[in-house]
Amino acid sequence: MSFVPVAAAQPGAPETGLYAHLDATDRYVHQSRDEALLTLLRRHGIETLAGLRILEVGCGGGSLLRTLLHYGADGDRLIGIDIASATVAGAGAALPGTPLAVANAAALPYRDGSFDVAFAFTSLTSMLDQREREQAAAETLRVLRPGGLLAVYDFWVNPLNRTTRSLRPNELRALFAGSRVEVERVTLAPPIVRALGGRPGLCRRLERLPWLRSHLLAAVIKERAQ
Ligand SMILES: C[S@@+](CC[C@H](N)C(=O)[O-])C[C@H]1O[C@@H](n2cnc3c(N)ncnc32)[C@H](O)[C@@H]1O
Repeated sequence: MSFVPVAAAQPGAPETGLYAHLDATDRYVHQSRDEALLTLLRRHGIETLAGLRILEVGCGGGSLLRTLLHYGADGDRLIGIDIASATVAGAGAALPGTPLAVANAAALPYRDGSFDVAFAFTSLTSMLDQREREQAAAETLRVLRPGGLLAVYDFWVNPLNRTTRSLRPNELRALFAGSRVEVERVTLAPPIVRALGGRPGLCRRLERLPWLRSHLLAAVIKERAQ
Protein backbone atom coordinates (compact mmCIF):
# COMPACT_ATOMS: atom_id res chain seq x y z
CA MET A 1 0.00 0.00 0.00
CA SER A 2 1.26 3.51 -0.61
CA PHE A 3 0.37 6.92 0.70
CA VAL A 4 -2.88 8.50 -0.24
CA PRO A 5 -1.57 11.14 -2.65
CA VAL A 6 -0.05 14.09 -0.87
CA ALA A 7 -2.56 16.30 -2.66
CA ALA A 8 -5.19 14.98 -0.28
CA ALA A 9 -3.43 16.78 2.56
CA GLN A 10 -3.04 20.12 0.83
CA PRO A 11 -4.98 22.95 2.39
CA GLY A 12 -7.92 23.78 0.19
CA ALA A 13 -7.83 20.40 -1.52
CA PRO A 14 -11.17 18.62 -1.97
CA GLU A 15 -12.52 17.38 1.33
CA THR A 16 -11.61 13.89 2.46
CA GLY A 17 -13.08 11.89 5.31
CA LEU A 18 -10.07 12.51 7.53
CA TYR A 19 -10.62 16.26 7.75
CA ALA A 20 -14.36 16.50 7.14
CA HIS A 21 -15.36 16.72 10.81
CA LEU A 22 -13.00 19.62 11.58
CA ASP A 23 -13.93 23.30 11.57
CA ALA A 24 -12.23 25.51 9.00
CA THR A 25 -9.37 26.51 11.31
CA ASP A 26 -8.51 23.01 12.46
CA ARG A 27 -8.94 21.67 8.93
CA TYR A 28 -6.41 24.13 7.56
CA VAL A 29 -3.96 23.52 10.43
CA HIS A 30 -4.19 19.73 10.14
CA GLN A 31 -3.97 19.62 6.36
CA SER A 32 -1.00 21.96 6.36
CA ARG A 33 0.71 19.93 9.10
CA ASP A 34 0.07 16.64 7.33
CA GLU A 35 1.33 17.97 4.03
CA ALA A 36 4.59 18.98 5.77
CA LEU A 37 4.78 15.61 7.52
CA LEU A 38 4.30 13.59 4.33
CA THR A 39 6.95 15.69 2.63
CA LEU A 40 9.34 15.04 5.50
CA LEU A 41 8.70 11.28 5.34
CA ARG A 42 9.32 11.18 1.61
CA ARG A 43 12.49 13.24 2.04
CA HIS A 44 13.73 10.50 4.34
CA GLY A 45 12.93 7.73 1.91
CA ILE A 46 9.63 6.66 3.46
CA GLU A 47 7.25 6.26 0.53
CA THR A 48 4.84 4.09 2.45
CA LEU A 49 3.93 3.56 6.09
CA ALA A 50 2.69 0.03 5.39
CA GLY A 51 4.82 -2.64 6.99
CA LEU A 52 6.57 -0.24 9.37
CA ARG A 53 6.55 -0.63 13.15
CA ILE A 54 5.36 2.73 14.37
CA LEU A 55 5.08 4.28 17.85
CA GLU A 56 3.31 7.48 18.82
CA VAL A 57 4.44 8.86 22.17
CA GLY A 58 1.70 10.85 23.89
CA CYS A 59 -1.08 9.83 21.52
CA GLY A 60 -3.87 11.64 23.37
CA GLY A 61 -7.27 10.95 21.82
CA GLY A 62 -5.72 9.26 18.78
CA SER A 63 -5.96 12.08 16.23
CA LEU A 64 -2.50 11.46 14.77
CA LEU A 65 -2.99 7.69 14.91
CA ARG A 66 -6.07 8.10 12.71
CA THR A 67 -4.03 10.24 10.35
CA LEU A 68 -1.28 7.61 10.13
CA LEU A 69 -3.85 4.90 9.42
CA HIS A 70 -5.36 7.09 6.73
CA TYR A 71 -1.94 7.45 5.11
CA GLY A 72 -1.31 3.72 5.01
CA ALA A 73 0.02 2.57 8.40
CA ASP A 74 -0.94 -0.96 9.43
CA GLY A 75 -3.32 -0.91 12.40
CA ASP A 76 -1.60 -3.82 14.09
CA ARG A 77 1.90 -2.36 13.72
CA LEU A 78 0.96 1.07 15.00
CA ILE A 79 1.16 1.56 18.76
CA GLY A 80 0.08 4.61 20.72
CA ILE A 81 1.03 5.27 24.32
CA ASP A 82 -0.13 8.00 26.69
CA ILE A 83 0.28 8.63 30.39
CA ALA A 84 -3.40 9.50 30.88
CA SER A 85 -5.49 6.34 31.23
CA ALA A 86 -8.85 8.01 30.53
CA THR A 87 -7.43 9.47 27.32
CA VAL A 88 -6.15 6.08 26.22
CA ALA A 89 -9.53 4.51 26.96
CA GLY A 90 -11.24 7.12 24.77
CA ALA A 91 -8.76 6.65 21.95
CA GLY A 92 -9.12 2.87 22.18
CA ALA A 93 -12.87 3.05 21.72
CA ALA A 94 -12.39 5.04 18.51
CA LEU A 95 -9.52 2.89 17.20
CA PRO A 96 -10.38 -0.79 17.62
CA GLY A 97 -7.53 -2.94 16.32
CA THR A 98 -4.79 -0.43 17.12
CA PRO A 99 -2.75 -1.37 20.19
CA LEU A 100 -2.72 1.39 22.79
CA ALA A 101 -1.07 1.43 26.20
CA VAL A 102 -1.01 3.57 29.30
CA ALA A 103 2.68 4.32 29.73
CA ASN A 104 5.06 7.11 30.66
CA ALA A 105 7.18 8.26 27.73
CA ALA A 106 10.02 8.61 30.21
CA ALA A 107 10.00 4.83 30.84
CA LEU A 108 8.75 3.07 27.74
CA PRO A 109 7.80 -0.61 28.11
CA TYR A 110 9.48 -1.69 24.84
CA ARG A 111 12.80 -3.26 23.93
CA ASP A 112 15.63 -1.35 22.31
CA GLY A 113 15.14 -0.90 18.57
CA SER A 114 11.49 -2.05 18.51
CA PHE A 115 10.24 0.61 16.04
CA ASP A 116 11.14 1.85 12.57
CA VAL A 117 9.44 5.22 13.00
CA ALA A 118 8.23 7.18 16.02
CA PHE A 119 6.14 10.32 16.39
CA ALA A 120 6.05 12.85 19.22
CA PHE A 121 3.33 15.33 18.28
CA THR A 122 2.63 18.09 20.80
CA SER A 123 3.59 15.74 23.60
CA LEU A 124 7.02 17.10 24.63
CA THR A 125 5.49 20.51 25.36
CA SER A 126 3.01 18.79 27.70
CA MET A 127 5.95 17.68 29.83
CA LEU A 128 6.73 20.68 31.98
CA ASP A 129 9.49 18.99 33.92
CA GLN A 130 12.83 19.21 32.11
CA ARG A 131 14.08 15.87 33.41
CA GLU A 132 10.91 14.16 32.20
CA ARG A 133 11.40 15.70 28.74
CA GLU A 134 14.99 14.54 28.59
CA GLN A 135 14.07 11.02 29.68
CA ALA A 136 11.18 10.87 27.20
CA ALA A 137 13.52 11.95 24.41
CA ALA A 138 16.14 9.36 25.42
CA GLU A 139 13.54 6.62 25.76
CA THR A 140 11.96 7.35 22.40
CA LEU A 141 15.37 7.12 20.76
CA ARG A 142 16.17 3.92 22.66
CA VAL A 143 13.12 2.07 21.30
CA LEU A 144 13.81 3.28 17.75
CA ARG A 145 15.98 1.03 15.58
CA PRO A 146 19.36 2.36 14.46
CA GLY A 147 18.75 4.44 11.34
CA GLY A 148 15.11 4.89 12.36
CA LEU A 149 13.26 8.21 12.15
CA LEU A 150 11.53 10.19 14.90
CA ALA A 151 9.23 12.97 13.71
CA VAL A 152 8.61 15.70 16.28
CA TYR A 153 5.90 18.30 15.78
CA ASP A 154 5.43 20.86 18.49
CA PHE A 155 5.07 24.56 19.09
CA TRP A 156 7.95 26.86 19.82
CA VAL A 157 5.68 29.70 20.90
CA ASN A 158 2.32 29.57 22.67
CA PRO A 159 2.10 32.35 25.27
CA LEU A 160 -1.56 31.75 26.08
CA ASN A 161 -1.38 28.13 27.20
CA ARG A 162 0.04 27.92 30.72
CA THR A 163 -0.40 24.14 30.98
CA THR A 164 2.38 23.66 28.45
CA ARG A 165 5.96 24.85 27.92
CA SER A 166 7.22 25.74 24.47
CA LEU A 167 9.97 23.79 22.73
CA ARG A 168 12.63 25.96 21.11
CA PRO A 169 14.79 24.69 18.26
CA ASN A 170 17.94 24.76 20.41
CA GLU A 171 16.32 22.71 23.13
CA LEU A 172 15.06 20.24 20.56
CA ARG A 173 18.58 19.82 19.19
CA ALA A 174 19.98 19.43 22.71
CA LEU A 175 17.39 16.77 23.60
CA PHE A 176 18.61 14.68 20.68
CA ALA A 177 22.24 15.72 20.75
CA GLY A 178 23.59 12.33 19.61
CA SER A 179 21.40 12.24 16.51
CA ARG A 180 21.07 14.09 13.24
CA VAL A 181 18.27 16.66 13.71
CA GLU A 182 16.65 18.66 10.92
CA VAL A 183 14.23 21.34 12.12
CA GLU A 184 11.84 23.46 10.09
CA ARG A 185 9.19 25.97 11.07
CA VAL A 186 5.69 25.05 9.98
CA THR A 187 2.03 25.91 10.62
CA LEU A 188 0.64 29.40 10.36
CA ALA A 189 -0.13 30.30 14.00
CA PRO A 190 -3.63 28.95 14.70
CA PRO A 191 -4.96 32.29 16.09
CA ILE A 192 -4.09 33.86 12.72
CA VAL A 193 -5.74 30.98 10.86
CA ARG A 194 -8.84 31.51 12.98
CA ALA A 195 -8.83 35.26 12.32
CA LEU A 196 -8.74 34.47 8.58
CA GLY A 197 -11.66 32.07 8.94
CA GLY A 198 -9.40 29.21 7.86
CA ARG A 199 -9.59 30.38 4.22
CA PRO A 200 -6.93 28.25 2.53
CA GLY A 201 -5.80 30.78 -0.07
CA LEU A 202 -5.18 33.54 2.46
CA CYS A 203 -3.67 31.23 5.06
CA ARG A 204 -1.36 29.67 2.52
CA ARG A 205 -0.04 33.06 1.47
CA LEU A 206 0.68 34.15 5.04
CA GLU A 207 2.18 30.78 5.90
CA ARG A 208 5.00 31.56 3.48
CA LEU A 209 6.30 34.01 6.10
CA PRO A 210 8.40 31.89 8.51
CA TRP A 211 7.96 34.25 11.47
CA LEU A 212 4.20 33.66 11.41
CA ARG A 213 4.68 29.93 11.86
CA SER A 214 4.16 28.70 15.42
CA HIS A 215 5.36 25.11 15.23
CA LEU A 216 8.50 23.11 14.65
CA LEU A 217 8.61 19.96 12.59
CA ALA A 218 11.77 17.96 13.11
CA ALA A 219 13.26 14.81 11.70
CA VAL A 220 15.51 13.07 14.23
CA ILE A 221 17.52 10.27 12.67
CA LYS A 222 18.98 7.78 15.11
CA GLU A 223 22.61 7.10 14.37
CA ARG A 224 23.24 3.55 13.24
CA ALA A 225 25.95 3.09 15.85
CA GLN A 226 23.77 4.24 18.82
C1 LIG B 1 -1.61 17.88 23.39
S1 LIG B 1 -1.78 16.15 23.60
C2 LIG B 1 -1.25 15.54 22.03
C3 LIG B 1 -2.03 14.36 21.58
C4 LIG B 1 -1.63 13.79 20.20
N1 LIG B 1 -0.22 13.53 20.11
C5 LIG B 1 -2.06 14.70 19.07
O1 LIG B 1 -1.20 15.26 18.39
O2 LIG B 1 -3.26 14.85 18.86
C6 LIG B 1 -0.40 15.76 24.64
C7 LIG B 1 -0.48 14.37 25.23
O3 LIG B 1 0.76 14.01 25.85
C8 LIG B 1 0.45 13.20 26.96
N2 LIG B 1 1.61 13.16 27.88
C9 LIG B 1 2.11 14.15 28.65
N3 LIG B 1 3.16 13.71 29.35
C10 LIG B 1 3.34 12.42 29.01
C11 LIG B 1 4.27 11.40 29.39
N4 LIG B 1 5.25 11.66 30.29
N5 LIG B 1 4.18 10.19 28.84
C12 LIG B 1 3.20 9.92 27.93
N6 LIG B 1 2.29 10.82 27.54
C13 LIG B 1 2.35 12.06 28.07
C14 LIG B 1 -0.77 13.85 27.57
O4 LIG B 1 -1.48 12.97 28.43
C15 LIG B 1 -1.56 14.24 26.32
O5 LIG B 1 -2.49 13.26 25.96
